[in-house]
Amino acid sequence: MRLVLLGPPGAGKGTQAKVLSQTYAIPHISTGDILREAVKNNAPVGKKAKAYMDKGELVPDDVVNQIVVERIGEDDAARGFILDGFPRTRVQAQRLDESLGELGIALDLVLYFETSNRVAIARLSGRRVCRKCGANFHITNIPPKVNGVCDHCGGELYQRPDDSEETVKNRLVVYEQQTKELVEYYRGKGLLRTVSGDLDVQEVFVILSKMFKDEGLV
Ligand code: AP5
Repeated sequence: MRLVLLGPPGAGKGTQAKVLSQTYAIPHISTGDILREAVKNNAPVGKKAKAYMDKGELVPDDVVNQIVVERIGEDDAARGFILDGFPRTRVQAQRLDESLGELGIALDLVLYFETSNRVAIARLSGRRVCRKCGANFHITNIPPKVNGVCDHCGGELYQRPDDSEETVKNRLVVYEQQTKELVEYYRGKGLLRTVSGDLDVQEVFVILSKMFKDEGLV
């Protein structure tokens, strides 16, 4: 199964991608996670990306395209993958089409997590992430058992620097201006399926599981 998850920051793409990745045993490829790891390790890509990420701007297309083209060609992606946070511009979408064409494969579905700004802002301001294993929590929606501590590995939970109020506002504007047009791009290709990102994690999962069966993907 080859999926793209599309939607604004805070739509729950990363959270749902982790559930789908475990359920269907296909890798979750998050450009945001890959870039944050590169920043943490002070890698060349991280050095290029950091200033954009801190402001909530998009990292240049050529940097991100390179990452994804390499990643989808790896062995574990041969059975399928879940792209989360990519593509985010028309240039990225076209590069993805080319790469898939070169590999002789195609996307099965693009899942659009339609989400209100109110919900997105509330989710991002309350998000906490594990420094060690990357698990996602929310201070009220999905709280850890012990405040500030990861349920899975005991790691410290932190707030992403780009989840500050000012940067979140900019990320939502950037989404509207540069990414939202991909909804129509993929609708035009007949790949788009819309799910409400405002629903809770399990509700979204049930809807998607049924969709995959109905589409003959599982
Ligand atoms: P990225 O990491 O991709 O951030 P994003 O798209 O802004 O998405 P988020 O991770 O904020 O939201 P999400 O939809 O995954 O929500 P989540 O599941 O975490 O990108 C960060 C930056 O990297 C960009 O700004 C850019 O600079 C750069 N970048 C990345 N990709 C790029 C690209 N392709 N091109 C250029 N630049 C790129 O959930 C949020 C919170 O809500 C969590 O606390 C979670 O616990 C909670 N939650 C989730 N789902 C639910 C639910 N259903 N009900 C209740 N709570 C929920």
